[in-house]
Amino acid sequence: MRRLLPALAALPLALWGCSADTSPAPPPEVPEARLASDGARQRGREIFLEHCALCHGEEANGLGARRNLSSRPQDFTDPSWPQRTTPQEIYLVIRDGRRGTAMASWKDLGERQTWDLVAYLLSVARPQ
Ligand code: HEC
Repeated sequence: MRRLLPALAALPLALWGCSADTSPAPPPEVPEARLASDGARQRGREIFLEHCALCHGEEANGLGARRNLSSRPQDFTDPSWPQRTTPQEIYLVIRDGRRGTAMASWKDLGERQTWDLVAYLLSVARPQ
């Protein structure tokens, strides 16, 4: 028993360590200036055409080649869309995907490219 006690004491720590690993990291702070920058929007558009247009369409209107999915890819030109979401939410959907839909996780893109995508998508929805 004397040997077991330290092991038991360490158990909650070990469990906490595990759950911290599997739970998704919190979203980083919204870089407002980046979201408003033409450079970020342009870079975001290039990434979008490369990786996202297949489903969301080259015009980001949800009419890509793979539009006949069980849940429809979002039409980002819909002016009501930005009112139903936030930059953080958009960031998280791109990073983590949406379970049970064709929207996969794009974690490999990294933080900067993901914010560039958010900047582009919001510029589509709110044309200047
Ligand atoms: C294989 C098809 C596919 C690809 C590729 C894809 N998406 Fe999606 N995406 C979807 C579908 C389907 C949904 C709708 C999921 C649902 O029903 O909630 C979605 C939803 C989203 C949403 C959430 C919209 C909202 O507010 O509900 C965002 C943001 C998004 N996609 C961005 C992207 C970006 C950025 C890329 C490229 C890095 C991308 N998607 C690539 C299919 C795709």
